[in-house]
Parts: sequence; structure tokens; C-alpha cells
Amino acid sequence: MKRLAVLASGQGTNLEAIFQSIESRKVAAEVGLVISDRQKAPALTRARQRGVNAKFVDPRPFTSREQYDRALLEILRQEQVDLVVLAGFMRLLSPVLVSEFYLRIMNIHPSLLPAFPGLNAVEQALTHGVKVSGCTVHFVDEGLDSGPVILQEAVPVLQIDTVETLHQRIHAAEHRLYPLAIDLYCRSKLTVKGGRCYIDET
Ligand code: GRF
Repeated sequence: MKRLAVLASGQGTNLEAIFQSIESRKVAAEVGLVISDRQKAPALTRARQRGVNAKFVDPRPFTSREQYDRALLEILRQEQVDLVVLAGFMRLLSPVLVSEFYLRIMNIHPSLLPAFPGLNAVEQALTHGVKVSGCTVHFVDEGLDSGPVILQEAVPVLQIDTVETLHQRIHAAEHRLYPLAIDLYCRSKLTVKGGRCYIDET
């Protein structure tokens, strides 16, 4: 069974969806540990409530992104993690981590990439007046939200939407999509060639 590490800085509603998909046996994986760069992240509480190892790794003592990522790497190696799942982790990963875990790190982003990468993706969608937005699960490379796309789900953008209402609709889609992508990975159904991710539908 694949062993996951979930990295999260915030609420951890995607983490919750992942836990539920494992508990209901939709995904055959285990969450070995949850790591956060924020001591008070509700994601850590969600993990502890389930008896899952939850670690706060404080970025403050580290002088560079690389140094911090080396500390993360050490933990991920010790814990023999197969797949790193970024679920609202608010730090850009450095090549130190990405190269060792290449095609073994996934991220979820609240837009239909390559539209609106980076921060405030939901706000950007509203500002541009797009009629459809959604979420994307992708493998992480060294760029900003730029790795091979695994799955996407579209949601409508309504005229009356605010950032909150649109984000809520996107969040609901994320909670469906992330477990599906993790499941595909765990069943070895994903192949990346020439920067594109192909799904084995058999
Ligand atoms: C999600 O919207 C995700 O797309 C983005 O960060 C948010 C995390 O939400 N990367 P949560 O902490 O899982 O509730």
C-alpha cells in the first residue's frame, strides 16, 4: 500500500477529503504523516484527531528555502513516503525536494491551469470575468503550478459570485478530484511522457 505524506498550511479540508476516501476504501493508501509550516494549522489537528503523526516544521530557523526543504526531505526519507501530497501548502518547493521526488509530488490548485497560476487564483478568475473555472491536480515541477496536469474539474462562474462563493464551489470539486488523482497514482495508472500525463483507462 502506498504511503502518503500530506503537506498543508491551512484548514486541511482537502486532507479531510483524503482521509474520508481512505476510510471508505475508495483509495487504497495510508497517510503516514502530515507536515505543516504553521504551528496552528487546523490540518495538524485533523491528523492528530485520527492518530496520524502530525509534525510542525518551523521555517524560521532556516535561512533558505533549500535548507528548509532539506529538513523536509530528511523526514520524508525516514518515513519512507511514496507520494507527497500538497494540500494548501503555501511554500514553493525548491529543486532539492522536487528532484528527489519528481513525479511523486502532487498539488491541487483552484483554477483550470494554465489559467491563473500562483496566489489568488479565484480572485483572478473573477477579475477576468471567465464563465468557467475549476480545479487542477498536477505533478509538481520546479515552476509555479506548472507540472503535468493529472485531472481537472470545471465549475461554472455565476454573475452573482463572490470570491467566497466561487471558492466554495471549487473546494467542493477539489474534494472529489484529489482522492481520484491519488487513487490513480496508487494503482499505477499514471504515466508522464513529453511533459504530459496519460491515464491508463484499462
Ligand atoms: C485549496 O483551495 C487548494 O486548491 C489550494 O489551497 C486550498 C487549500 O484548502 N492549493 P484546504 O486547506 O484543503 O481547505
